[in-house]
Amino acid sequence: MGVHRVISLVREVPNLPLTCAFYTEFGLRETSPGTFATEVGGEQLFLRSGDVPRIAELNIAADADADLDAIAQRFEELGIASVRSDAGLEATEPVSGVLVRVSVADRLPRDPAPTVPTSVDRTDLVQREPVRPLRLGHVVIGCTDVEEAKRFFIDGIGMRLSDYVIGGPFMRFETDHHNVVLLPAPMTLLHHTAWKVRGVDEIGYGGSRMIENHPERHAWGLGRHAASANYFWYLKDPAGSFSEYYYSEMDGLADSPYFWDPDPGSEELPVAAWASPALHDRPLVPEAMRAPILTADQ
Ligand SMILES: [Fe+2]
Repeated sequence: MGVHRVISLVREVPNLPLTCAFYTEFGLRETSPGTFATEVGGEQLFLRSGDVPRIAELNIAADADADLDAIAQRFEELGIASVRSDAGLEATEPVSGVLVRVSVADRLPRDPAPTVPTSVDRTDLVQREPVRPLRLGHVVIGCTDVEEAKRFFIDGIGMRLSDYVIGGPFMRFETDHHNVVLLPAPMTLLHHTAWKVRGVDEIGYGGSRMIENHPERHAWGLGRHAASANYFWYLKDPAGSFSEYYYSEMDGLADSPYFWDPDPGSEELPVAAWASPALHDRPLVPEAMRAPILTADQ
């Protein structure tokens, strides 16, 4: 019983056709205009046209109606207004202004085993089909007060804290290291979405294919995060957020919901255990945060 996965994300973007083309190339399947599906998670990304990039809605799955009742009760104790309807339980996270809906939905099957060579035929190593992500693994939101926003997800929704990395709480439902992350930012923004693939080879195939005729898409990768152990490659989408191919064999090993609990005695780990050199000195800082902040006398 409890909350168990990110169902989907609804985004508004100022350049809808370009952003849709990016996610099609990334390997998601456009099932109807602006709606994108993964192989296992179903329809998980909804893109709409908007004047500025905006997170319109984050959808989270729970096992049962009783979970929604418990979350509504906790929101009330936190002084957060929520609305119950046939579609689930809705509440706006007060710091970021992101609308979060929790609804009852099925659990996904366990991720498939990674693809490994099954013979000495090296042609198996050549990927001829586009990479197809399995599911949306995590959503990373920049906001002005991560501690306040954390209360909504930990004390309200019922997520668990895994680690702090670069000043942000990494929170999970169960066996993935993180499913929702909050990062300090001067405004609300979608930092990145992360899409699980079947292994390190698929990260390499997908990332190199995405930048082949678009070097401007490259943000950072290939590398491996330290705290979460995820292998990664980040690409910049046309709406200014990053999109990550990721994989970790440790998510599959972590069959206890307590596996990723913080170890108070451990040192804060670096962002990456290793990574190819980044082209930019701050490779994961979104464009929106790079713009100089003008003061009154400028
Ligand atoms: Fe990530």
